Amino acid sequence: MDHFHTQNGVLHCEDVALPTIADAVGTPVYVYSANTFRRHAQVFREGLKDCGRVHLAYAIKANPNLAVLRVLADEGYGADVVSAGEMARALAAGIPAMDIVFSGVGKTRDELTAALAAGIGQFNLELEEEGEVLADIAAAQGLVAPAVLRVNPDVDAGTHAKISTGRAENKFGIAIDQALAMFDRLAGRPGLNLRGVAIHIGSQLADLAPLEAAYSRIGRLVADLRAAGHMIDRVDLGGGLGVPYRPDDVMPSPADYGAMVARVTKGWDVELMFEPGRVIAGNAGVLLTKVIWVKPGVTSPYVIVDAAMNDLARVAMYDAYHDFVAVEPTGARMMANIAGPVCETGDTFAMGRDIDVVASGDLGVFRTAGAYGATMASTYNSRALVPEVMVDGGRYAIVADRILPETILAAERVPEWLDT
Ligand code: LLP
Repeated sequence: MDHFHTQNGVLHCEDVALPTIADAVGTPVYVYSANTFRRHAQVFREGLKDCGRVHLAYAIKANPNLAVLRVLADEGYGADVVSAGEMARALAAGIPAMDIVFSGVGKTRDELTAALAAGIGQFNLELEEEGEVLADIAAAQGLVAPAVLRVNPDVDAGTHAKISTGRAENKFGIAIDQALAMFDRLAGRPGLNLRGVAIHIGSQLADLAPLEAAYSRIGRLVADLRAAGHMIDRVDLGGGLGVPYRPDDVMPSPADYGAMVARVTKGWDVELMFEPGRVIAGNAGVLLTKVIWVKPGVTSPYVIVDAAMNDLARVAMYDAYHDFVAVEPTGARMMANIAGPVCETGDTFAMGRDIDVVASGDLGVFRTAGAYGATMASTYNSRALVPEVMVDGGRYAIVADRILPETILAAERVPEWLDT
């Protein structure tokens, strides 16, 4: 459930009419509902109520806006970060360092050093050498790095290939059959407190079965590790729960997910870590856009909107579906293609779709754009970097400015040798 609804014929985010935001901030613009973020955070936590000791680390990559992080920090969420930049955001939002998990297959030595200095709560190790380097950096400073080993369970998550992470050939994690031996080699090192294992098999998972298979494998590994004398008190189950993008999509609910987790992890006696991203952020945001032209097409007209693939990359990158609705629908429908102004055929949001009738100057939104939306934006075609607005009840605020092309141009230089 989200807080985007039509009131007197006009789409609102909570109590704010979207045309008000378009008039004040311009378009395209991302609009977030603070109360939807809060609700999703609470529903996810509630779903895990029978799972014993639980730590929630919101996967910042889904939506790293500082105001969003503050809302989630107030809900008691920690953070899953994958770069020094994300770590800095989590800390700036007031998330305690101890509640931060550092994931990622390419943490640099500088990032490991900075995260150690910050005192983060968990490093998710991706390879043996990373564990050795981290242990050495920590030991040299008289510190002990809390860590878990990310394991690749070789499970097909059944999602888009570009967001699948748990198959043997993917770049992530340590092959599950090598994990025990690697644990043996790393666990005794001074500077390292190797206390558990982690997995994350992919994103936008529409089915719990692959997650259950992966969790069961990890459960057997935990038993093997304990049998070998290792102290295991943490298992990180990652993120990945899918959200509905199409009106008729049915996804497992956080309650379904929690019931599965409770069943599979019964008796593990560990602190369970979770890294939800999309399920918290996805339906908490829309991309508000204005129709520039309705251009006749061979079969259907092209609705050319002022948002483009640089603002919302998911369609071009993953063939993703984002529902499009008019902000002030008349009730009439049309078959149309929807595209942005960028000079690529890939800058097409929909082909031959049944949508609300819109005309030049009308506002519309792409729904379910709160996760992996603004954060993946670029300035391709020298377009502005899209701004973000947060609504909270009847209030709203710009929480990220529109970065104008002239600001980006001002950061570029012509070397003097070309300046003759
Ligand atoms: N933990 C780890 C280690 C991850 O790699 C990810 C996502 C998450 C947690 C959060 O997963 P979620 O709960 O959001 O599914 N840009 C793509 C999604 C990439 C996901 C990458 N990893 C998209 O727009 O669909």
